[in-house]
Amino acid sequence: MKLAPSILSADFAYLARDIQIVEDAGVSYLHIDVMDGHFVPNITFGPSVVAAIRPITKLVLDVHLMIEKPENYVEDFAQAGADIITVHAESTKHLHRVIQMIQACGVKAGVVINPATPIQSIQQVLSMVDLVLIMTVNPGFGGQRFLPEMLEKIRDCKRLRDEQGYQYEIEVDGGIIPETASLCKNAGADVFVAGSYIYNSDVPAKQIQALNEALR
Ligand code: DX5
Ligand code: ZN
Repeated sequence: MKLAPSILSADFAYLARDIQIVEDAGVSYLHIDVMDGHFVPNITFGPSVVAAIRPITKLVLDVHLMIEKPENYVEDFAQAGADIITVHAESTKHLHRVIQMIQACGVKAGVVINPATPIQSIQQVLSMVDLVLIMTVNPGFGGQRFLPEMLEKIRDCKRLRDEQGYQYEIEVDGGIIPETASLCKNAGADVFVAGSYIYNSDVPAKQIQALNEALR
């Protein structure tokens, strides 16, 4: 099981410190939420922030693009040092093409769907992606409540992988705390994004330990 702390809830004035804290705690991925104020109502980071983070950590940079026309920015994020770039199926008219663009840059490609989007909408790309991200809240903000209806979608995603022999990891994002992490693990998730649960604490390392215990 892999943990992917989301820096959305970190203290941006002390970003390097907050990244070091989770790296020292032994997590696998660093989740970077890119928002453009169009696909989602919020605005966060661009490629220059990813480039600034790249030399200060060995963590896998897991870049979640919540932006319209991701095809226009994929190369910039790849050059900035992203290891995984994940695009919303709802954000582009040419999902195959964007996934191919990401992989042509030598970066792992993920596809992500909003809570209201059925797994069937990405069925045609499941054979090519390295990661499927199931949103367990509506994207845009940290600190929202987990939507339990998404557990069935995680189970479907796992069943399709087992039946078809696909290779993707299954990641969940939104409202992840020890209880919901455990539910998602039992449904088939492999990678767990957590923002507010980890960073809205005086001792993030303790929160990571609690998540790891729940995932044991
Ligand atoms: C939401 C982002 C998440 C967010 C999760 O749009 O994609 O990655 O940081 O935050 P929490 O863990 O607080 O729900
Ligand atoms: Zn995210």
